[in-house]
Amino acid sequence: MRCVVANWKMNLATQEARAFCDDLVGRIAPGPGIEVGIAPPFTLLHLVSGLLRPKGIQVFGQNGHAEPKGAFTGEVSMPQLRDAGCSGVLLGHSERRQFFGETDAALAKKVKAAWQWDLLPLLCIGETLEQRDAGRTLEVLGQQLSILGETGPGPLWVAYEPVWAIGTGRRAEAAQVQEAHAFIRAELNRLLPTGTYQVPILYGGSVTPESFPELLGLPEVAGGLVGGASLDPRKFAELVKQAS
Ligand code: 13P
Repeated sequence: MRCVVANWKMNLATQEARAFCDDLVGRIAPGPGIEVGIAPPFTLLHLVSGLLRPKGIQVFGQNGHAEPKGAFTGEVSMPQLRDAGCSGVLLGHSERRQFFGETDAALAKKVKAAWQWDLLPLLCIGETLEQRDAGRTLEVLGQQLSILGETGPGPLWVAYEPVWAIGTGRRAEAAQVQEAHAFIRAELNRLLPTGTYQVPILYGGSVTPESFPELLGLPEVAGGLVGGASLDPRKFAELVKQAS
């Protein structure tokens, strides 16, 4: 199965999102073998899910709290994401880890909460440039994946997003992607019992229609998690077509 997910981050408002969705549904019609998702900001979830879910496009939250409700000002819970039309949630994006202090311990709780509310977690992992330069890439990925030893198995997608490739226009090279994805697959096999759900591994970081076909040709690359290029419906539709 191929997966292409748009992460809009903190971009777009109502009119722009509506125009994007109207344009996108005229360009793609996801068939069997491909899952397409959009992760809009919270304020746009109702609008986007109303427009896209009837067309077979999934909607993801960009984050979710582990508690179902309570005194957590500024947070949004998993049942609230479901209520807004989400079928999944991004967890552990590097921007959440870097700027909002997201920890592996908190992420283990969030993955379990997502499952409890029937949301598909898309767990994002990746090393910083400093960690890569220090030869610690696989160690960091192993640490970030180790939460799955605690959560146990369940429906899950993983995105490998090297932090230094996000929003920089500097996509990871094929050999780097291949090494990371092979390692992630081996770790998933080690941590999760065999015969359970086959986890798709997506690549993210400066994905464009120019660079995506090469990535899709690599073993263990099931698709992409796309930031910048996903804000243009023409480019995003092109990525979906390449993966189809
Ligand atoms: P860019 O595609 O803009 O590099 O962003 C990648 C990303 O962070 C997706 O989650």
